[in-house]
Amino acid sequence: MIEARNLTKRYRDEVVVNDVSLRLPAGGITAIIGPNGAGKSTFLSMIGRLLPMSAGSATVDGLDVTRTASDVLARRIAVLRQDNHLSSRLTVRDLVTFGRYPHSKGRPTAADLAHVERAIGYMNLERQADRFLDELSGGQRQRAFVAMVLCQDTDYVLLDEPLNNLDMPHAVAMMRQLRRAADELGKTIVLVLHDVNFASCYADHIVAMREGAVAFQGSPEQVIRPEVMEAIYGIAMEVQIIGGRRIAIYYA
Ligand SMILES: Nc1ncnc2c1ncn2[C@@H]1O[C@H](COP(=O)(O)OP(=O)(O)O)[C@@H](O)[C@H]1O
Ligand SMILES: [Mg+2]
Repeated sequence: MIEARNLTKRYRDEVVVNDVSLRLPAGGITAIIGPNGAGKSTFLSMIGRLLPMSAGSATVDGLDVTRTASDVLARRIAVLRQDNHLSSRLTVRDLVTFGRYPHSKGRPTAADLAHVERAIGYMNLERQADRFLDELSGGQRQRAFVAMVLCQDTDYVLLDEPLNNLDMPHAVAMMRQLRRAADELGKTIVLVLHDVNFASCYADHIVAMREGAVAFQGSPEQVIRPEVMEAIYGIAMEVQIIGGRRIAIYYA
């Protein structure tokens, strides 16, 4: 379980995550949705100990993220940032091998390298494995970063907008792979999504943030509703049931 207690982030006098308390059960996919600036990345970054909190605490399987040794935590929880800046003179395989660092400490064993190849295959990057990152499309690079995070082989995986730069087929493929990782490998996946319909179709649980707070949470059935969507995004939306799934339409 991931538990946030009174989690708060302040920048000077601006509160960007405001006293959020939340429990995310182990297993399944939780999608965090909400408009730009709602605090989604800040919230995820504090849980993933990429960013110090101003107040409150977060635990992952009972381990306090600010007090647990980072190598211990890195074997429980892996995090994909929204913006990834890394040297372009790395190959896909080099990058994915970084994901094994908490296990290999820089000296990958045959078992570590097998994890690397599996993660590359999982993200369908076999043909690009020896290419440099600056020789990839944005979508291929995004998949390489996700492969790195999956290669860390943790029970908890936090992904900030993993569908960035992906076209529709690759976005669907990514969500299916994450669904499989949750269902077959028992991983707990928490991801920030812009497209509420991907959240509706693939998540078990949706957390909707607005202005630094959790405004709504629940199943897709409970959250993907016109009144909730309007309260969160401030625009009128229609929700239709298509193929048994709730689809929000917002072209009006
Ligand atoms: N380093 C920073 N300094 C000051 N304000 C920041 C910083 N990082 C983020 N913010 C502000 O915090 C708010 C929440 O940002 P963020 O968590 O990135 O939102 P989201 O991911 O939901 O779009 C925004 O108003 C943003 O401008
Ligand atoms: Mg963000």
